[in-house]
Amino acid sequence: MTVTRHDRETGASFVIRLDSTRLGPAAGGTRAAHYPSFADALTDAGKLASAMTLKMAVSNLPMGGGKSVIALPAQRNDIDPATWNRILTLHAENIDKLRGNYWTGPDVNTNSADMDVLNETTDYVFGRSLERGGAGSSAYNTALGVFEAMKATARHRGLGSLDGLTVLIQGLGAVGGGLATLASAAGARLLVADTDSDRLAWARGSGHTVIGADEVLGTACDIFAPCAMGGIIDSATAARLPASAVVGAANNILADNTAAAILRKRGILYAPDFVTNAGGAFHLVGREVLGWNEETVVEHTRRISDTLTEVFTISDAESTATDTAARLLARRRIETSVQAGAATAPR
Ligand code: NAI
Ligand code: PHE
Repeated sequence: MTVTRHDRETGASFVIRLDSTRLGPAAGGTRAAHYPSFADALTDAGKLASAMTLKMAVSNLPMGGGKSVIALPAQRNDIDPATWNRILTLHAENIDKLRGNYWTGPDVNTNSADMDVLNETTDYVFGRSLERGGAGSSAYNTALGVFEAMKATARHRGLGSLDGLTVLIQGLGAVGGGLATLASAAGARLLVADTDSDRLAWARGSGHTVIGADEVLGTACDIFAPCAMGGIIDSATAARLPASAVVGAANNILADNTAAAILRKRGILYAPDFVTNAGGAFHLVGREVLGWNEETVVEHTRRISDTLTEVFTISDAESTATDTAARLLARRRIETSVQAGAATAPR
């Protein structure tokens, strides 16, 4: 199901995509971006929502998959506060009309403060600020999950521990920055790229080597960690990527279906993003639906490495791409949970 709306006053268009409610209400963040066309926004919402279905299922979380996309009339930084407030309020009205079949949360260009604004109009919001009783930012936990996934991938690829490996992180935002700190503490040598000068200044101050944003796909490394936007690896890039493994936070890292097969053929071990970046979902759903404390959230997040190892085992046994193996595991988990009647309603 897809809900759309256009607001003439601000020029914003809204998409809420419900991909699956088989395991529970559809959940997935609100992404705000300036898209080339409304058709692009619709396509993005569809792909992001189905990635959420896979993420919840493979992580054994009692939620379905959905996503919201707000197609902004300009870049986020160029939207004034009053316009932004109206956009959020209209979006909250759209969410509320779905009566709990869809729960949102933060995603690219939205944060806990924005979730507080949505919550003035609708209850169906994860990731409000701690002051408002929400679980706050999920970024650190996402970074922790990607870090655990990176260690498991390095081991499976025969690279050993992260100590001494070259890790290239694209995007040093809330997740990529946390990942940089964790990987560096584990002994990795970091190459980093961002388009934001403050983040690059932080990276230089932390002793990491900065490379140009346009050099990322041609720079040799042991592990490539895409932590900016999705769609970064298509068939052409997969055919020449100078890395041994890919493990990142970005949703939908692979731009097309053949990229996964090409990576496999070239011996580049790809850790499927909807497995590796589930730390944010563990944080939000764990704290706000399942009543977990921080320790339990971290425990589940660390176990992302076990799920990933299961994915690699299926991929090896069935001689199939890791992405295909992860989808298979997610589908199996959906069938098992549905048969067991395991869905749990949110608060
Ligand atoms: P963020 O907005 O804090 O960071 C993104 C960073 O990427 C920014 O520093 C930005 O300047 C940089 N960037 C943008 N375009 C770039 C380019 N072409 N080259 C290099 N750097 C570029 O976002 P956040 O929260 O760190 O999320 C990163 C990715 O992880 C997103 O794709 C998001 O959907 C995904 N993700 C985030 C989760 C979370 O809990 N925050 C959970 C699951 C996935
Ligand atoms: N947007 C984040 C993700 O892609 C966090 C999130 C998880 C938001 C679950 C809402 C629900 O995982």
